Amino acid sequence: PLKPIIAPSLLACDFSRLFEESSSVLSADGGASEWLHVDVMDGHFVPNISIGSVVVSSLRKALPQAFLDCHLMVSHPEQWVDDFASAGASQYTFHIEATTSPKGLIDAIRAKGMQVGVALKPGTPASSVFELCDADLVDMVLVMTVEPGFGGQSFMSNMMPKVLELRTKYPALNIQVDGGLGPSTIAAAAEAGANVIVAGTSVFRAPSRKQVTDELRDCVAK
Ligand code: DX5
Ligand code: ZN
Repeated sequence: PLKPIIAPSLLACDFSRLFEESSSVLSADGGASEWLHVDVMDGHFVPNISIGSVVVSSLRKALPQAFLDCHLMVSHPEQWVDDFASAGASQYTFHIEATTSPKGLIDAIRAKGMQVGVALKPGTPASSVFELCDADLVDMVLVMTVEPGFGGQSFMSNMMPKVLELRTKYPALNIQVDGGLGPSTIAAAAEAGANVIVAGTSVFRAPSRKQVTDELRDCVAK
């Protein structure tokens, strides 16, 4: 059985208190989650700017054990592999829409010792990553459940057939969902076969971050 993994998205945290916010959700530091999801936006691939490798580097120094799950919503993912590796990123997830040579990019990510994820915008079909998955080149597929760019949007339940299609074809693959996940939407995602859950608003704005995280994980584990 696939391991359930909860990855709170820092996009919803108070950036003026980045260390406290990060450690509050990580299991190794008294929180409850396995991963930390870091949304990187370049104002070009998506209509917003967020954070880059400089911040990842600081996070890595402050949280040596954390799994830093970096989601690159950028136009030239090839350009930032070295910087994110040096900064201490654990996983580098690029968008399939943003590159014409995914295999070369994957080789570069692996050569730097990071895990590899590939992300799909809502309009991109599952079949766009079949070749990569068939060749066992990626550790994770990220199925976006909102249009990338902003936190706090509504979950697109019409992405669940895409998750189910990937889960049916690849029983052992980490499948991540990102956007609008919380206690009221987790059942649909879990049912479709997602095992890695990004949650920004629902975790960081909750009265008890631990309680929500545990609730999400329990639902995936069922
Ligand atoms: C959207 C980001 C998501 C987002 C999730 O572009 O990739 O990670 O922060 O936030 P919520 O959980 O609030 O939808
Ligand atoms: Zn994300």
